Amino acid sequence: MSTTSIKEVAKLAGVSLGTVSNVLNQPERVAEHTRRRVLDAIAQLGYVRNDSARQLRAGSSRQIAIVVLDVANPFFTDVVRGAEVEAEKHGVMVVVCNSSEDSDRERRHLDLLEEQRIRGLLITPVDDTRNSRLEQLIQRGTPVVLVDRGSGGRDRCSVAVDDVLGGRLAGEHLVATGHEHIAFVGGPMSIQQVADRHRGVTLATKGTARLSTIATPSLTVAAGRAAVAELADLPAARRPTALFCANDLLALGVLQEATKRGVRVPDDVAIVGYDDIDFAAAAAVPLSSVRQPREQLGRTAAQLLLEETEADGRHEHRHVVFQPELVVRESSTRT
Ligand code: RIB
Repeated sequence: MSTTSIKEVAKLAGVSLGTVSNVLNQPERVAEHTRRRVLDAIAQLGYVRNDSARQLRAGSSRQIAIVVLDVANPFFTDVVRGAEVEAEKHGVMVVVCNSSEDSDRERRHLDLLEEQRIRGLLITPVDDTRNSRLEQLIQRGTPVVLVDRGSGGRDRCSVAVDDVLGGRLAGEHLVATGHEHIAFVGGPMSIQQVADRHRGVTLATKGTARLSTIATPSLTVAAGRAAVAELADLPAARRPTALFCANDLLALGVLQEATKRGVRVPDDVAIVGYDDIDFAAAAAVPLSSVRQPREQLGRTAAQLLLEETEADGRHEHRHVVFQPELVVRESSTRT
């Protein structure tokens, strides 16, 4: 086992300790010629990073973290509440971080959380396709569980809801209530849940109804309001009679703006949301929504994560998928 220290590597390469650490952890931040000098020194000295010490340190923390897409979204509040119930059984605290659906912000959180040597991480990633930082965290020994996101990954657990089925349930309901032109309101499609819900409503309307899409930059109330403004600009004959929104915040924004413009819900336009947060039933026109078992998602994710941190490497990764349920209320019931 190599006893060479990181200091000896830095001395031989003529660089600082931080540069050696960057070469090992974030090589993209180091100039090619410097990176080469450090790697030559590592090879010459036979340096081997002491990951077991890091993992031990990571394991000793009494904190897990959860990085959510939008801390203002009650969906995540309920998920966090579930995770806390489970973490408290283990005497562990949950640190909540908000990525605001921004990849760079998410990365900054991951940098800080790793420096804090948290015991493990729950995360709803902003974008699966460009998440090298999350992969790095996992490779360096921080257990990660994906939340509200499925995964085929062998090196992490995941807890999700079948969002394709959720989209189908919403689409089939709107087709069954006589809608021939339905619009999907949601985005960005880089968020896997949004893409899966869109795929579900596409399957449900294939050959049965016309499906259009109103892309939104985010999953917020404001984006829902803006979507109605876009719809209002369409000629009456091209306007959909039903909207399936990628989450309840969008749907509540749509409902608010439609009502403000004198558009009757559901008579002029039906609305279905997704999550079934408490505000859905309490809305001025009670909102139909595809229910996600929010607290159960959080509890199960924390259970899987804490099992892994206490399993000394013998953990079998699991991918739990819950079934969604359509809750029909006034906002999509034909009178
Ligand atoms: O996690 C992405 C989205 O899925 C969130 O906005 C939340 O509402 C869930 O529906």
